[in-house]
Amino acid sequence: MFQKPMLKDNALKGKVIVVTGGGSGLGKSMTTYFLKLGAHVVITSRNIEKLNKAKIELEGKTGGKVLAVQCDVRNYSEVEVVLEETLKEFGKVDGLLNNAAGNFISPTERLSANAFDTIIDIVLKGSKNFTLAFGKHWIKEKQKTSTILNIVTTYAWTGSAYVVPSATAKAGVLAMTRSLAVEWAKYGIRSNAIAPGPFPTKGAWDRLLPGDLKDKFDIKKKVPVGRVGVHQELANLAAYLMSDFSAYINGEVITIDGGEWLKGAGEFNMLEDVSEEMWDMLETMIRNKKKK
Ligand code: HXC
Ligand code: NAP
Repeated sequence: MFQKPMLKDNALKGKVIVVTGGGSGLGKSMTTYFLKLGAHVVITSRNIEKLNKAKIELEGKTGGKVLAVQCDVRNYSEVEVVLEETLKEFGKVDGLLNNAAGNFISPTERLSANAFDTIIDIVLKGSKNFTLAFGKHWIKEKQKTSTILNIVTTYAWTGSAYVVPSATAKAGVLAMTRSLAVEWAKYGIRSNAIAPGPFPTKGAWDRLLPGDLKDKFDIKKKVPVGRVGVHQELANLAAYLMSDFSAYINGEVITIDGGEWLKGAGEFNMLEDVSEEMWDMLETMIRNKKKK
């Protein structure tokens, strides 16, 4: 069921949505569903060949219209070009999905200053660049409704060892999401975030679980529902948050992780492995305490 498209046909008809990092991974999956629901989508990343290939594939598969624009999210002037090209092609823009990211595992003390900056610049500064350029445009044009959707992670609020630049940057994106939800609501701009748990993509798995780490750490075991995420279920949530059906949701971060982060957080979650017989024994021991 969760592998099926959720929204009704044409739920995004007439919308123009910009997806950063839309040519691969989760960005491509969300783009595919936006197109199926009737949106026009602008996909951006550093690699124009990849984007052009994705454009042909996605237009063929969905019958939708895709504009591919090369852009490094770290450069504000390139972001302004994306906005210009979008307006030239479609005449307006309704939604921004800040999805592009950079990340890799490393002990923090091994990182150069430039390595740390690189992740902060892609994730935090990149999301800021798109948010600022598009927000200014929407405010200037007095557009009635528009939507910003940011992809963060569950460690945006818990933090995480070995991905410290990413955790630091995603925490900043989450703060920006909640701050602007209040400040820009008066301009009709909604601001929300999604915090995905593990959803296999080549980009993430190659950098976070390289080599035999994939086999050493069975990610499924970390997730209470016992599996990793399916791209369509993330796309369902993203499409809902981009659509007018979610008009009253503003400043929210929705976690979609099968309960993964909470499993790591609860004080007694390790008792998951206790058998029924053991529980009988433990219960007797606890009850006997009262009698003494
Ligand atoms: C230590 C490293 C390193 C590593 C790069 N650097 N890789 N340091 N360990 N493994 C250092 C480099 O030496 C350099 O520092 C600096 O980082 C910048 O590296 P460049 O290769 O010049 O950067 P760039 O070409 O801009 O590439 C950015 C990148 C790359 C982040 C390093 O991996 C990339 O393009 N990633 C994009 C896609 C991605 O990361 N996807 C994963 C998202 S997953 P010096 O000092 O030498 O100049 C995600 C999931 C989160 O976010 C949650 C999962 C559950
Ligand atoms: P991915 O496949 O590596 O995708 C990252 C995308 O960002 C690529 O399309 C890449 O395109 C683009 N990008 C990277 N640096 C860029 C830059 N400087 N300028 C422009 N575009 C850039 O990773 P993913 O797994 O799909 O991740 C997508 C989002 O989900 C990210 O925000 C990630 O943090 C989040 N997330 C993923 C998971 C997961 O399990 N996969 C879990 C939690 C959160 P180019 O290389 O062509 O530029």
